[in-house]
Amino acid sequence: MIPRPFAEIAGLGVAVPSRVVTNAEFEATLDTSDQWIVERTGIRERRYAGPSDSVASLSRDAALRAMERAGITPLDLDSIVLGTASPDRLLPSTACDLQALLGAERAAAFDVSAACPGFLYAMTVAEGLIASEQSRTSLVIGAEKLTAITDMTDRSTAILFGDAAGAAIIRRTAGGPKARGILSTFIKSDGRLGDLLYRPGGGAAEPLSQAVLTARSHFIRMAGREVFKSAVLAMSDACDQALERAGVKADEIDLLIPHQANVRIIEATAKHAGMPMERVMVNVDRYGNTSSASIPLAIDQAVEEGRVRPGSLILLVSFGAGFTWASAVVRW
Ligand SMILES: CC(C)(COP(=O)(O)OP(=O)(O)OC[C@H]1O[C@@H](n2cnc3c(N)ncnc32)[C@H](O)[C@@H]1OP(=O)(O)O)[C@@H](O)C(=O)NCCC(=O)NCCS
Repeated sequence: MIPRPFAEIAGLGVAVPSRVVTNAEFEATLDTSDQWIVERTGIRERRYAGPSDSVASLSRDAALRAMERAGITPLDLDSIVLGTASPDRLLPSTACDLQALLGAERAAAFDVSAACPGFLYAMTVAEGLIASEQSRTSLVIGAEKLTAITDMTDRSTAILFGDAAGAAIIRRTAGGPKARGILSTFIKSDGRLGDLLYRPGGGAAEPLSQAVLTARSHFIRMAGREVFKSAVLAMSDACDQALERAGVKADEIDLLIPHQANVRIIEATAKHAGMPMERVMVNVDRYGNTSSASIPLAIDQAVEEGRVRPGSLILLVSFGAGFTWASAVVRW
C-alpha cells in the first residue's frame, strides 16, 4: 500500500442558491412552528434553488471556485466524481452534464449514489483513482436540489432539507511526514435499513405513473426517530474508524466536521468522539440538511472563519440513506 498522504484537497468551493427560506415560512403552510424546528433540529433557515438552478449548474459554480483556488482549469481534470441523491436526470449522470458545462474534455465523469455521505464516498473513489494512477487531478462534488424530491406537505421532512453544492479538487501530492492531505478514509453501508429513508416510487421498480404522483411516493419518506438512532451509532463508529486508520487520537483533532442533519445528532456524535462542542463545526442553522453538499459547505465556512488553517487536523463524518456512512481524517 502507498503510504498516506498521497492525495490532498488542493482547492474547495461552494455554491448556494440566493433564496433564503426561514422557519416562519413553514408556519403558513404546515402545522409546525419556528420553536419546534429550532428545538428539535437546530435549523433556522435553508436555501432553495430557483427555477434556473440545477444540480449541474450549482456544481459548476462550486467547481469554478475550487479550480480557481487550486490554480487549475477544467482541462486539467482527469476525473469528475459527483455524489448526489437528487440527480438532474436519471440518464445520463449529472457528472456528465457538469463535464459538458465545464468543458472538461479530458475527464471521465460519473455519479456516486451514496446519499448524504456522497461527498466522502466520492472523495474516497477519487483518492483510489489517484492511487491506481488513473487520475492525477480529480474534481469531487457533493451537490443537491433536495427541494425537487421533498414532499412540501409532509411536516416531518419538508422543514429539514435545503439545496447547495460543494466541490473539491483532489490532487496527487508528494506526501511525506506532516504533509497536508487525506490521512484516512472509511466507508460502510447497511442496505437492510433502506426503507427507513427512501423514495418508494419513480424508479425502475415502480416507474413514474399517475398512481405514483397521486400517492406522492416519488418524494422522500423517512422514519425520523429510527434514522436518528442509527445516525448517532454509525457516525460514532465512523469517527473511531477514521481516527484509528489515521493513527490519530481525538484530542489531536482541531475540528470535527460532521454531516449537518440535526444539531442533536451532531452533539451526540461529538460526545461519543470525546470532542467538546467548541471543536465541532455547526452550520445546520443556516443551511438545513443539504445531504452530500453538507460536508464541503461546513469545511468551507470553517476555513472562512479561520477555524481550519494550514496544518489543521480535521475529522469528517457523515451518514445517510442506504444506510451509508463514511469518515475521513484530513490534514489541511
Ligand atoms: C425528524 C426529526 C427532527 C423529528 O424529531 P423527533 O424528536 O424524532 O420527533 P418524532 O419524529 O418522534 O415526532 C415527535 C412528534 O413531532 C411531530 N412532528 C414531526 N415533525 C414536526 C414538525 N415539523 N413540526 C411539529 N411537529 C412535528 C410528529 O408528528 C410527532 O407527533 P406525535 O407525537 O403526535 O406523533 C428527528 O427524528 C430527526 O432529525 N431524525 C433524523 C433525520 C435526519 O437527519 N435525516 C437525514 C439523515 S441524513
